[in-house]
Amino acid sequence: MKKRVIVLLFSVVTVLYHLAADANAETHMSRGEALYNRHCSRCHGEKAAGTDKGPPLVHRIYHPSHHSNISFHMAVTRGVKAHHWNFGDMPKIKGLDMEKTRLIIYYLRRLQKDAGIF
Ligand code: HEC
Repeated sequence: MKKRVIVLLFSVVTVLYHLAADANAETHMSRGEALYNRHCSRCHGEKAAGTDKGPPLVHRIYHPSHHSNISFHMAVTRGVKAHHWNFGDMPKIKGLDMEKTRLIIYYLRRLQKDAGIF
């Protein structure tokens, strides 16, 4: 009997833990999307599909093993010299700290994952 209560409590805690984790993931997603739309989408496009000013980031070139999260942080803080495409250089992006960039990367990795890139 005692054992059953313990198992039941454990299940309740597990379910609550997963609900909280999901809610957290959704918050990360929506904050990341809003920051992306504000700072990146004018060149990289809606849902990172690209524009005539910048490449799509949902692209196999930007697979995590080709462009790690560090290269995303560096692109934001230092800008990028054109080397893969012919859109010109990317300027450094102001108004973002590491935490905000991390949320943008979270959003972009989810889009890449949903597109089957990894
Ligand atoms: C003014 C246009 C513009 C904006 C705004 C912009 N980018 Fe870029 N970005 C570019 C261009 C153009 C390239 C492609 C450079 C090349 O030829 O490889 C690029 C490349 C990149 C790369 C690849 C870096 C590498 O090492 O090859 C990353 C990552 C990236 N951008 C992330 C972002 C993020 C995140 C934001 C928003 C915080 C952003 N960009 C905003 C134009 C822009």
